[in-house]
Amino acid sequence: MSIISNCTANAIKDAATTLIKGDLVAFPTETVYGLGADATNKNAVGRIYEVKGRPNGHPLIVHISSMGNLDMWARNIPEYAVELARAFWPGPMTLILPRTELAKDFITGSQDNVGIRVPSHTVALALLKEFEDQGGLGVAAPSANRFGAVSPTTANAVEIELTDFLSENDQILDGGPCAIGVESTIINCIQNKPSILRPGAITKEIIENTLDITIDLNTSYSESKKIKVAGLLESHYAPKAKVFLTGSPNLGDGFIALDSFVTPAGAVRVAAPKTIEEYAQVLYQAFRLADINGLRNVFVIPPTGGGIAVAINDRLSKSAFEK
Ligand code: TXA
Ligand code: MG
Repeated sequence: MSIISNCTANAIKDAATTLIKGDLVAFPTETVYGLGADATNKNAVGRIYEVKGRPNGHPLIVHISSMGNLDMWARNIPEYAVELARAFWPGPMTLILPRTELAKDFITGSQDNVGIRVPSHTVALALLKEFEDQGGLGVAAPSANRFGAVSPTTANAVEIELTDFLSENDQILDGGPCAIGVESTIINCIQNKPSILRPGAITKEIIENTLDITIDLNTSYSESKKIKVAGLLESHYAPKAKVFLTGSPNLGDGFIALDSFVTPAGAVRVAAPKTIEEYAQVLYQAFRLADINGLRNVFVIPPTGGGIAVAINDRLSKSAFEK
């Protein structure tokens, strides 16, 4: 496995060839780092499951370079989904749509729908374009972490997380820290009205304003049993440290809160974001910092309000869930 930090045109070409050959490339997106494989290659996709330690049958998001390639992977695309794609792609949004023949069971978890995203990170887009130029059709990429763990938002975090599991021919592209820091908004587009399966930077309010309708947020696992979303499991996105969303830290416990909150005496401050956007961006890195420092507990003051605070609270409640 090699880490490519200077993502020149040649490096991107090489990474695309790596994917074409059936090896894995971890790459930056604006949300979190993804672990990519050729989405039409069963063996390559199988390796994603091995490297992540992810149980079989969980569907993967297919990443494409532009909306123009959408109908290769999806059919019966509702008008509202086209509108969302036009408004927010490239960007932090995944659409769940009825699949075409191209989206095999090993991508969709044997469901009749497929998750598609056009990411906006320059390196991700360059990689996808180059991969398509070399004959590829889409890159399957879950977050580049071990199953149940926190998504990586830097190349270094990917390396620490996956180095023992990647092979010699795999690569990690370093595109710097992710700007958003929490995973894409997942929108269920298989009914006559969209609903949010996983909140993210494209918020409920933004979608409602764009489509001029009201929509549901179905993030609880029980409400969405009919659709398999690993991120909907109650326990997910968790560091090794135990996460508490209430109570106060004791000596040596970690502490995460907006900058305006004073660090309680004896606590170890692992993040002090100034805004909720920065809160989203640094949260997973703060969890990693807590683990690197061997902290046993992390006390978090969750952000309040709407916008991306909804996504942060969704991840926080899953990271704090008793396993
Ligand atoms: O921001 C993101 O979405 C990142 C970057 C790398 O693009 N990817 C990501 O992938 O978070 P992953 O696999 O860690 O989370 C995607 C979630 C999973 O919970 C998966 O079950 C769900 O999306 N998903 C994917 N395809 C689906 C489908 N066809 N139906 C329902 N859920 C699906
Ligand atoms: Mg994930």
